[in-house]
Amino acid sequence: MEGGKRTEAGGCAEEERAGPVFTLEEVGKRNSNREAWLVIHGRVYDVTRFLEEHPGGEEVLLEQAGRDATESFEDVGHSTDAREMLKQYYVGEIHPDDRKKGGSKVSYCFWSTWLIPIFGALVIGLMYRYYILDGRSS
Ligand code: HEM
Repeated sequence: MEGGKRTEAGGCAEEERAGPVFTLEEVGKRNSNREAWLVIHGRVYDVTRFLEEHPGGEEVLLEQAGRDATESFEDVGHSTDAREMLKQYYVGEIHPDDRKKGGSKVSYCFWSTWLIPIFGALVIGLMYRYYILDGRSS
């Protein structure tokens, strides 16, 4: 399942909403030995077929099934590969009323939003130092 077309540039794709919208209550019902849905960063994932494959074991996923697993997901410090894998299990968005306010979603976007300008400023600073200051001393 593709889960709609989303750009993932820099791992910051929070703005584009594609799939159907679910409430936390609806997600809560998808928590049985046949089905496991969970919410990460405001998105709903059906991890049923991933349970047996999860490197961290199925127990942790079952424990989080039917609720917002953002914190536990982030606490583990999942790799970029793990974040990429999320796409395969995407089923929709969580209702805006049920979205967690603030939280780590912001810090996830922080790096792609700020690292590039900071790096750019550093490069300009270094160029200034080498070209302008060196030019003056010779
Ligand atoms: C669909 C959601 C998830 C995906 C795609 C996923 C994927 C992965 C992957 C690929 C790894 C291997 C290490 C890495 O690449 O980071 C991993 C490890 C792990 N995951 Fe998840 N995970 C998900 C959700 C969760 C949740 C909700 C928890 C809750 C606590 C969790 C706990 C762990 C743990 C404890 C490990 C083992 C870490 C280690 O041994 O170093 N994962 N996961």
